[in-house]
Amino acid sequence: MSSREYLLPLWLRLWHWTNAVLMIVLAVTGASLHFADPELKLVPFSLATTIHEIAGIALAVTYAFFVVANIVSGNWWQYVPKPPGVLHRCWVQTRYYMWGIFRGEPHPYPPTKEVNFNALQAVVYWTIMYVAVPVVILTGLVFFYPTWAPERMFGLDGLLPIAMLHYVAGAAVILFMVAHIYLGTMGVRPTSLFRMMITGWHEH
Ligand code: HEM
Repeated sequence: MSSREYLLPLWLRLWHWTNAVLMIVLAVTGASLHFADPELKLVPFSLATTIHEIAGIALAVTYAFFVVANIVSGNWWQYVPKPPGVLHRCWVQTRYYMWGIFRGEPHPYPPTKEVNFNALQAVVYWTIMYVAVPVVILTGLVFFYPTWAPERMFGLDGLLPIAMLHYVAGAAVILFMVAHIYLGTMGVRPTSLFRMMITGWHEH
């Protein structure tokens, strides 16, 4: 029999969906700017620039909120992979996604109020939220204030390595988002985890 537990506070859910919408807007306008082609435009160049800049600033504000709210609420602790056996638990979880789930095995580490994330989620969410997203935001800010960039870096124009870092970190977040949405279907029902992200209630 399935049971329910209230796991996610409203602020976290509001942050999550604001962040998701901004990331999608940034990905579409970012792709449009990166693969700019007058013949084949996803969004006209100057419109894509304006939307990308506004969404980028909104993302920086949203991210600052995420960091402060995580510290104040203590939720940051969920993101810390807890030893011992982090690698082993990551492997057990990966094996479950690749094999066990298709054979109807139970979730190896179901979420609880105290430990919301399994080890794989903790490692991936930590890397995305505390490495990739800050890199995207900081390198994006350098484009607003290009004088912050060094004149030259590695023998190249100082802005070029910043642009490459912005692109690679942005691509990592987009790849994460694709895998994240697929893994989001792996609750007790395919829609359970998406519903949890809206209502806060986890279905066991
Ligand atoms: C349309 C896009 C997205 C959808 C449909 C989606 C869906 C979900 C779902 C179903 C969960 C709950 C499963 C779980 O606990 O792991 C979740 C949690 C989470 N998502 Fe997303 N997501 C999206 C975009 C993003 C993006 C772009 C990021 C970050 C860059 C992100 C970061 C997170 C984080 C950190 C959590 C855990 C929140 C917590 O419990 O503290 N999501 N998302």
